[in-house]
Amino acid sequence: MFASHGLSQTDMIALSGAHTLGFSHCGQFSKRIYSKAGIDRTLNRQYALQLRQMCPVKVDPRIAINMDPTTPQIFDNAYYKNLQQGKGLFSSDQILFTDKRSRPIVNLFASNNNAFNQAFVSAITKLGHVGVLTGNQGEIRHDCSRVN
Ligand code: HEM
Repeated sequence: MFASHGLSQTDMIALSGAHTLGFSHCGQFSKRIYSKAGIDRTLNRQYALQLRQMCPVKVDPRIAINMDPTTPQIFDNAYYKNLQQGKGLFSSDQILFTDKRSRPIVNLFASNNNAFNQAFVSAITKLGHVGVLTGNQGEIRHDCSRVN
């Protein structure tokens, strides 16, 4: 899917680094911490137990959890350092480290903030060119959560 839009594997890994900011609702990852098979084995056990505390079984659906447990307010490469420790919140995060095709880039971004920043700028700029609607085909929203 990424390739069909002119995005590379490195772009995909860099874009996922946007999860260094923001938060997510418990339901998005509850299967990883509450499935019958037990806790997702790619998840750091300590972190999984913390997630269970923050997201108890009947959690209020409005509760949201930081996607970067280390520096949730800073746009940095901590996301990749977290992945090295099994602290990727979503399966789509953690697999970037468990899959050996993407692990070298995760390790590069974890050790070199500048390399991550440059790759992110390049990837998000490319993403901005995907499926652009011009003229009266679309609109730029004043509030990104609803049409104008
Ligand atoms: C390769 C790029 C990316 C992948 C594979 C990816 C994947 C995911 C996945 C699987 C989720 C879990 C919830 C869901 O499926 O909706 C998620 C949530 C989220 N992502 Fe990403 N993402 C990517 C890039 C981005 C970017 C560029 C941003 C922001 C600029 C972003 C912001 C968010 C936010 C805010 C949530 C939480 C939504 C919620 O829980 O309500 N993601 N992402």
